[in-house]
Amino acid sequence: MTKVLVLYYSTYGHVEVMAHAVAEGARQAGVTVDVKRVPETVPEEIARTSHFKLDQAAPIATPEELPDYDAIIVGAPTRFGRLPSQMASFWDRTGGLWAKGALIGKLGAAFTSTAVQHGGQETTLFSILTNLIHHGMVVSGLPYSFAGQMRLDEITGGAPYGATTIAAGDGSRQVSDNEREGARFLGRHVAELATKLSGQISL
Ligand SMILES: Cc1cc2nc3c(=O)[nH]c(=O)nc-3n(C[C@H](O)[C@H](O)[C@H](O)COP(=O)(O)O)c2cc1C
Repeated sequence: MTKVLVLYYSTYGHVEVMAHAVAEGARQAGVTVDVKRVPETVPEEIARTSHFKLDQAAPIATPEELPDYDAIIVGAPTRFGRLPSQMASFWDRTGGLWAKGALIGKLGAAFTSTAVQHGGQETTLFSILTNLIHHGMVVSGLPYSFAGQMRLDEITGGAPYGATTIAAGDGSRQVSDNEREGARFLGRHVAELATKLSGQISL
């Protein structure tokens, strides 16, 4: 059966919510889905005093397990318009997989969260997708058939390059129904693509 990994990092929980929505969508396509996190690199004491969300139940992923999956959907909040060091650090440990071409031909996609509407959603998505493309993965965006990304009647995330949410400067805004639907759509879409690709080609 097609296996999908939703791999994420989240400091305050917005990307965590998105990750589970992506997984929900992928499961709707009838595939096996795991949700895993990359390791936190901030010392626990600092994370606690900085009010990081420390009760995230998803297990920690290791680079070695990535080849087990047909698709890897990666989510992380923005840091100055690009991916956070926690997620970059994880991908920096995948040189051995790159050398072996272990991820070539697998499906990939990205999702993110920013504080503000124009705080770098698209650049962050691309900074995630760049890693996947260097690994030879086939990347998917969020098609416009998810029409919710074109809504103008409310402030909303959603981009052709991936699913997104907006957290507000103080983190008080929660993932909206529309953004959650965008995340589900992305998960379902990538899972369907992975099912079409897996087992039919050998790269
Ligand atoms: C060091 C740092 C840099 C950040 N840079 C940006 C930024 O460039 N644009 C923006 O909109 N939000 C920025 N943020 C806000 C985070 O993206 C926001 O806290 C995050 O999207 C919330 O997701 P989470 O709850 O999953 O951690 C930054 C936060 C930190 C700590």
